Amino acid sequence: MGATRQYVVIDPSAGKIDRRIFSEQAIYDDEMEKIFGRAWLMIGHESLVPAVDDFFHTYMGEDPVMLTRDGQGQLHALLNMCRHRGNRVCRVDDGNAKRFTCTYHGWTYRNDGALEHVPGESEAYYDALDKPSLGLIEARVETYAGIVFATWAKDAPSLEAYLGDARWYLDTVFNRRDGGMQALGPMKWLEPVNWKTLVDNCSDNYHVPTSHLSSARVQSRYLGRPRLSHEDQFASPNKHAFVNGHSITFRDADDNAPRYVHGVSKDTMRLFQEYHDTTMPEIERRLGKLRARRVQLGNHSIFPNGILGLRLALPRGPLKTEFWHFVLVDRDMPEDLKRVIRIGSQANNGAAGMFEQDDVDNWRQVTAASTSRLGRRHPQDLSMGIGHAGLHPDYPGFVSERYISENNQRLFYRRWEEFMNADSWAAIPLDRITARFDGTATLRG
Ligand code: FES
Ligand SMILES: [Fe+2]
Repeated sequence: MGATRQYVVIDPSAGKIDRRIFSEQAIYDDEMEKIFGRAWLMIGHESLVPAVDDFFHTYMGEDPVMLTRDGQGQLHALLNMCRHRGNRVCRVDDGNAKRFTCTYHGWTYRNDGALEHVPGESEAYYDALDKPSLGLIEARVETYAGIVFATWAKDAPSLEAYLGDARWYLDTVFNRRDGGMQALGPMKWLEPVNWKTLVDNCSDNYHVPTSHLSSARVQSRYLGRPRLSHEDQFASPNKHAFVNGHSITFRDADDNAPRYVHGVSKDTMRLFQEYHDTTMPEIERRLGKLRARRVQLGNHSIFPNGILGLRLALPRGPLKTEFWHFVLVDRDMPEDLKRVIRIGSQANNGAAGMFEQDDVDNWRQVTAASTSRLGRRHPQDLSMGIGHAGLHPDYPGFVSERYISENNQRLFYRRWEEFMNADSWAAIPLDRITARFDGTATLRG
């Protein structure tokens, strides 16, 4: 191991960023260690493992991980690697099992990770094998409103501190109902894009009227969605906020309108409005009046790679990302509304989503540009709105003055530098929690 490489990839005063971070293998390898090896990573949702002994196979960065619920109902995140030679002990996506048997030599693990049975323990190993030290490698697990996070870092702060004031905004989608949420999916596919291009895009509202022009026209004509112009966007009262690496965009309006989700159209609006009206007393009780009525979370990312609600953007090399797209719905929502949201989500996002295809083409080209020898000599420009963000009297985090801004992106790359340059969690700064969390909703739901 050599000395820690020091990264200076963003010039925050000029908004210039070094393109090599999107394509260089050595930087990617460092990201796996410094970011994916120690951040809290979104790995799934409790509704994917509702019963004891359920499991769901997922990933932390490139590492295969089983999210299990043991016989006591406790969640575990276990590296899918037999401690003998390293074979995977689980070969399926999900299921219900009390134990996992390795198909190489038959070592068998309980679903809490303990090594339970080794063929020939007496005859071959002379009872000298230290079984208690050979359980599956286990990550720390915590949940936020049913979303499961895990980290390999023993010295990581609590998930509550990690999310910090970002939760004040996230609650407006993920923590609305007493019954919690339910994850549908995932739909999985691969794209030749660097994982950071899509995180960057989560706060990029600037691209919408241009990139999505044709998709938006189709939606205006057939679904009655408002047309989206640059003028509308520049005049929008919506805002961006940044906390601890998490990029938030949110709508600020008190117009008794249902929060926007894919699936809203002129034909379905009545269903959404009814649902909004009937659930509002419960939501006010859970979140307080300000957040229930005014604040509506929009696109956002949870550092490092949790995007668009519950989507895992799993790095597969510097030039490849595997998407796992889930649709999250309120568990106690009427079934016809769940169906509308599920279909709406797939029509917009997902492998065949109209908006998704516009976006992915951009991310592919941004990634490809970073492989150009000549192109790399010229940094990306992220200078929009420099000096026009700060603390806000009503909203936590570092808040941009305008909806169209590159403030969140600049701060995301700064956060990336903080992780990449730190030797341990002690060297990674965290914003203090200052927001007032009115209402009964807690971290756990
Ligand atoms: S590799 Fe798993 S039992 Fe040998
Ligand atoms: Fe987009």
